[in-house]
Amino acid sequence: SVISRSEWGARAPKSTQTIGSRVRYIIHHSTGPSCFSRSACVSRVRSIQNYHLSKWDDIGYNFLVGEDGNAYEGRGWNIKGAHAGPLYNSNSIGICVIGDFTSSSPNAAALRKVQALIKCGVDSGNLTATYKLHGHRDVSNTECNGDRFYRVITEWPNYSRTP
Ligand SMILES: *[C@@H]1O[C@H](CO)[C@@H](O)[C@H](O)[C@H]1NC(C)=O
Ligand SMILES: *[C@@H]1O[C@H](CO)[C@@H](O)[C@H](O)[C@H]1NC(C)=O
Ligand SMILES: [Zn+2]
Repeated sequence: SVISRSEWGARAPKSTQTIGSRVRYIIHHSTGPSCFSRSACVSRVRSIQNYHLSKWDDIGYNFLVGEDGNAYEGRGWNIKGAHAGPLYNSNSIGICVIGDFTSSSPNAAALRKVQALIKCGVDSGNLTATYKLHGHRDVSNTECNGDRFYRVITEWPNYSRTP
């Protein structure tokens, strides 16, 4: 289950574009503070949306996950995100774990939730079963999703260094 936009008090998007066929997951970290309770994570998600709305049409990610163990709906399964550049936004689902994971991994609750969301996308027919999984750094010149978290996802099913 995912905490919906109305549940976290999302602002309306400026505009939306339907996504194409979703063939990959791209994993991010937000940098900045972690959050360990629903109220703290809601406040982080709102502040990320406010920042992204100053540049883009909406919060950039399709989903966000907190160390409270919850997933928060960003643009969702059907709307093209703004998280990995024009080449990849149109065919990927971007999942961001809230916090900076350069020197520590997200906790077990967050990792479990990301993996549940990955499975849910495939089970619901939103992602192809042959999806690839990447860290943001695999598709762009960035440190995202943090050294420590990146090492974790390279062990996950369908991880691929090359897009
Ligand atoms: C995608 O996921 C949503 C929410 O779980 C679901 O309602 C929808 O049927 C799924 N499938 C497609 C192809 O969008
Ligand atoms: C991973 O990808 C392969 C083919 O590339 C596919 O057969 C498989 O179902 C995918 N999913 C998982 C969870 O391994
Ligand atoms: Zn990123």
